[in-house]
Amino acid sequence: MDPRRKFRMLASTLLGLLIIGIGGTLYLSGMLNPLIDPQNSGTINGIGGPVQLTDHNGGRINTGTLGKPHAVFFGFTHCPDVCPTTMQAMTATLTELGDAAKDFRVYFVSVDPERDTQPLLKQYLSSFDPRMIGLTGTREETDKVIRAYRVFARKVPLEKGSYTMDHTAAVYLMDSKNQLVGTIADNDDDKTRVQKVRRLLGR
Ligand code: NI
Repeated sequence: MDPRRKFRMLASTLLGLLIIGIGGTLYLSGMLNPLIDPQNSGTINGIGGPVQLTDHNGGRINTGTLGKPHAVFFGFTHCPDVCPTTMQAMTATLTELGDAAKDFRVYFVSVDPERDTQPLLKQYLSSFDPRMIGLTGTREETDKVIRAYRVFARKVPLEKGSYTMDHTAAVYLMDSKNQLVGTIADNDDDKTRVQKVRRLLGR
């Protein structure tokens, strides 16, 4: 066989295999988890778990037994920028979704339980959509959740013995089996937020 023709045949076979490989991988990952955001794929496995904390009304919450899609995010009430922005953005998302998200809950887990007492959370949450639930607990309970969600949360000392917290800003989207299926990033626009929650809710 003419070596040039042989080379062309080999090249087209390799190209064919490559296309099948990529196509198969995309198809499989799409089937296994249609909600995985391509930018987040590969970081989802093993992240998440039951959140067992006290809500801002004093009731106990266990997201492991909810059996409903929900969202979890981490922050603290003294946060000057990211947290209030996310709280407002999620309030706008819930307002936009209206009745389509009537059973949907967004859990705000305090990474600063020393300052975020239940009454303080109650006051903080009163400015936002009632479907947003503030959660706090003991340091031990909180650390367990932080570890399960592989959240970054660190105290940063300020003047006069005060402190702020550096923390993960993403909103974790959990399905009815309490599996992480994607995240909302802090720079996602309103339309993207609504779309992601709609997909999670299947409507
Ligand atoms: Ni914050």
